[in-house]
Amino acid sequence: MMANRGLCLGVNVDHVATLRQVRGSTYPDPLQAAEECRKAGADGITMHLREDRRHVQEADVRAVRDWKGLPLNLEMANVPEIVKIALDVHPDEVCIVPERRRELTTEGGLDVVGQAARLRPTVEALGEAGICVSLFVEARPEQLESAAALGASCVELHTGGYCEARGEAREHELARLIAGARRAHELGLRVNAGHGINLENIKGVLRIPHLEALNIGHSIIARAVFVGIGSAVREILEIMAEYTGGERA
Ligand code: PXP
Repeated sequence: MMANRGLCLGVNVDHVATLRQVRGSTYPDPLQAAEECRKAGADGITMHLREDRRHVQEADVRAVRDWKGLPLNLEMANVPEIVKIALDVHPDEVCIVPERRRELTTEGGLDVVGQAARLRPTVEALGEAGICVSLFVEARPEQLESAAALGASCVELHTGGYCEARGEAREHELARLIAGARRAHELGLRVNAGHGINLENIKGVLRIPHLEALNIGHSIIARAVFVGIGSAVREILEIMAEYTGGERA
């Protein structure tokens, strides 16, 4: 993601497409949302092309790619059909995620350790095509070490556990993310974070060191219902501007 400020924001526009798909209408258009995000100061657009195509369609991904208004980060499962599309669409960045058909959203991090043999050819093919490869992982040392060994250039730390936890459990999850970011950085990986981040829990996320980008979707699109997508993006960016490298309590 193009770093025009310290901490970059990638807006995930999947749920703009969700609103369109639930009614089989032609609107709202994720591309139009992408342009509003750009005008509001976002640094990138994230889209998850799921195997079941429940929200974003291949044409949406191509439209955002051709628009070229902001770098495109394509979230995708490691399956041949989607890998082929990614190589053809050629997004700036790909984030490989686990995907289960019945899940409401991406549930856990990628098992890089267990799936290394299946991931290796994909990471290599995308990397050779000049696409930056990120792996969506839980902040566990063995997963991060495997990601580095596979040659990924980046990891996206799964913040879902932290965002859903309360009280002491939340502090524990945050400590895990902080340690994970440190380890990933030591391993030479670029560090992004995402999942479940909203206006309430983002303050804790900003304690994670070495962050380059946050990918935020659902909470921004939900907030946009009341304030518009431009304002929703600006609200988050205003808080992200406070990022000074993390770790303060
Ligand atoms: N990052 C990854 C890898 C994801 O799979 C998702 C959900 O699609 C997000 C970030 C955005 O999560 P949320 O919609 O909860 O902000």
